[in-house]
Amino acid sequence: MQGKAVKDSQVLMTEIVHPGDTNPLGTIFGGTVFKWIDMAAAMCAMRHTRSNVVTASIDALDFLCPVKIGYFVILKASVNYTGKTSMEIGVRVESEHPITGEVRLVAKSFLTFVSIDEHGKPKAVPAVIPQTEIEKKRYEMAQRRREHRVKFNKDKSNNSHK
Ligand SMILES: CC(C)(COP(=O)(O)OP(=O)(O)OC[C@H]1O[C@@H](n2cnc3c(N)ncnc32)[C@H](O)[C@@H]1OP(=O)(O)O)[C@@H](O)C(=O)NCCC(=O)NCCS
Repeated sequence: MQGKAVKDSQVLMTEIVHPGDTNPLGTIFGGTVFKWIDMAAAMCAMRHTRSNVVTASIDALDFLCPVKIGYFVILKASVNYTGKTSMEIGVRVESEHPITGEVRLVAKSFLTFVSIDEHGKPKAVPAVIPQTEIEKKRYEMAQRRREHRVKFNKDKSNNSHK
């Protein structure tokens, strides 16, 4: 299977914060940001694989600043790393003041998606080809995170059988 460049599947998604997305303080619910992250990452994974995908895991998610009603939320998703049937998608979330244009970092998230065949079984994904320095750095870091995840999942399943 032919590899694919990171730029060929990148997703840029822009949302506006509506009153229904916010808590009584007028700032966005974490769950709404979480949903947008999952959607942006899923579109990126589908673009990379041109197949159905499922979210296998989402790493810890820290919200760095609140986002108010009327602000824009910008989500940038790209493939950081590919395994055999899975891939790590990184999503950067920023808020933009609609009038001043001030941009702030809201969250960064790493998600693992698995490509699924017509029987719901994992299927091979095209290798991602990091080209720029930043893409190569992200690839290396994602590879390390994957090693931790595999070890963590192994420990978890060993403990659950005790
Ligand atoms: C994700 C899922 C397809 C994995 O199926 P599985 O039979 O356990 O598959 P495997 O053990 O062969 O793993 C397939 C790949 O997924 C990765 N993987 C599996 N579970 C994972 C997890 N919890 N976190 C990160 N990666 C995971 C494996 O490392 C493997 O990657 P690789 O092929 O690149 O080496 C399956 O658990 C599933 O369907 N889960 C539900 C997904 C879903 O519905 N998500 C929406 C929210 S509920």
